[in-house]
Amino acid sequence: MPLAPDTLLASLRWRYATKKFDAARKIPAETWDAIEQSLVLTPSSFGLQPWKFIVVQDAGIRANLCAESWAQPQVTDASHLVVLTARTDLNAADIDAWMERMATVQGGGPESVAPLKGMIEGFAQSMSHEARHAWNVRQAYIALGQLMTSAAVLGIDACPLEGISATAYDRLLGLEGSGYATVVACALGYRAADDKYAEMPKARFDRSRVIAHL
Ligand SMILES: Cc1cc2nc3c(=O)[nH]c(=O)nc-3n(C[C@H](O)[C@H](O)[C@H](O)COP(=O)(O)O)c2cc1C
Repeated sequence: MPLAPDTLLASLRWRYATKKFDAARKIPAETWDAIEQSLVLTPSSFGLQPWKFIVVQDAGIRANLCAESWAQPQVTDASHLVVLTARTDLNAADIDAWMERMATVQGGGPESVAPLKGMIEGFAQSMSHEARHAWNVRQAYIALGQLMTSAAVLGIDACPLEGISATAYDRLLGLEGSGYATVVACALGYRAADDKYAEMPKARFDRSRVIAHL
């Protein structure tokens, strides 16, 4: 069932980068399950999904992360905190794992994915290690967008968080040497009744400035 355009726009206008969460309100399990599934469903280039999303519920870890996030209270007060990480490389094992999964899910043998595999390998090899990581990071931002929009449609507040020390997050989350590195975080939950940012008019450029029709 498609959403009515007005319904979508109402959700997108309702959402804002929440500065103050109601620490007492928790996202119900069923709703959270849908949010996790929306992360899993995020599209990525060639479908490679070069990421891992870490849901941090441990209060002690969240307090330590908060100290590495300009002390932004969303990190500790939101119902849920997701740290979006990206693969630091894209190697043959990554590509093989994805090709095997695709063949299994889509019911073909290895030959069914051979042309795509060759294309992805050629693409990955044409890039430096840094460029492959940067490419994966761009994919992670697609997941952030999907996460925020899904949350808004479900009536869940969110705050994307780039004001974090990615290297400290990697240390606190045990990511060093794991092949994944922190990109961005997102706190999700319910706005506090007195978060004055909720009432601020949504400030965007005019449509004519950001959309061109040719
Ligand atoms: C990638 C990204 C990182 C952000 N990092 C932070 C952050 O660390 N702290 C914060 O309070 N807001 C952060 N924001 C929120 C933006 O400031 C906010 O989305 C923008 O000003 C537009 O306002 P709105 O989302 O309320 O419509 C971030 C937004 C994005 C998309």
